[in-house]
Amino acid sequence: MEIIRIPRIMQETSKRALLRGRTIGFVPTMGALHEGHMSLIRACRQENDITVVSIFVNPTQFGPHEDFEKYPRDPEGDINKLTDAGVDTLYLPDTASMYPEGFRTSVVVNGLSDKLCGAFRPGHFSGVATVVTKLLNIVMPTRAYFGQKDYQQSLIIKRLVSDLNIPVEIVTCPTVREHDGLAMSSRNQYLNPDERKAATAIYKCLSSAAEKIKSGEKNAVRIKELMNEILSSEPLIKEIQYASAYDPETLDELQRIDSKVLLAVAVKIGQTRLIDNILLEETGS
Ligand code: PAF
Repeated sequence: MEIIRIPRIMQETSKRALLRGRTIGFVPTMGALHEGHMSLIRACRQENDITVVSIFVNPTQFGPHEDFEKYPRDPEGDINKLTDAGVDTLYLPDTASMYPEGFRTSVVVNGLSDKLCGAFRPGHFSGVATVVTKLLNIVMPTRAYFGQKDYQQSLIIKRLVSDLNIPVEIVTCPTVREHDGLAMSSRNQYLNPDERKAATAIYKCLSSAAEKIKSGEKNAVRIKELMNEILSSEPLIKEIQYASAYDPETLDELQRIDSKVLLAVAVKIGQTRLIDNILLEETGS
């Protein structure tokens, strides 16, 4: 596996591959790779001639009191996993090459960035949108792969790619879960054994709400109540930031469930903030 650290070299490498008629698949990550990332890499390898993965813990998407410093980092372990998975290129920039002195630009996707997670993490999605725009311009992929666990992130990226005419197909892959339903996340490493057990309430809440909707419940207020009851019955969940039914396109909270619905949750267990969601595409009308 080739490791490239300089943006211009990454761009030149991609340009050469594209000129040779190769398709480039891209999986942007912040490292601490788990099975969720590996499933994106497998999908990427199946659908493209060349697979590029980036690892960059992007400082601009963390708030001043968030976990940037302690975010899990395992460069050697990650490089081994990527090599074993048959990745062609690892793009591994440092902060100075991504944000050189004088950097002043940011990308904001209005209307989607201040809802759900954005309401609790001001500036987060502008940091994500800016770094993803840069990464897409540097790697120039044919397709880029994101996990559905970060549904709002995927939606924002699809919007910015369309609004800014970036020639890439955004592919969203299903959430990978532990045996008890907990969505895989690098932040699960922060949980102690009791908190890890408590975290199963998140998927319980989402799957109970999904079942209720599948069996005919149309009242989104009752769904919200059910979700909040399940989460509140877990004493280690200290804060429910949001738990409700949303319009999957606008992210507005629903009163009534008529067709597609996004069930989404963000909670804090101890100091750890966890998110998850289920998208129901067909609920009947
Ligand atoms: O989902 C992530 O890991 C990050 O938000 C991303 C897309 C790599 C941007 O830093």
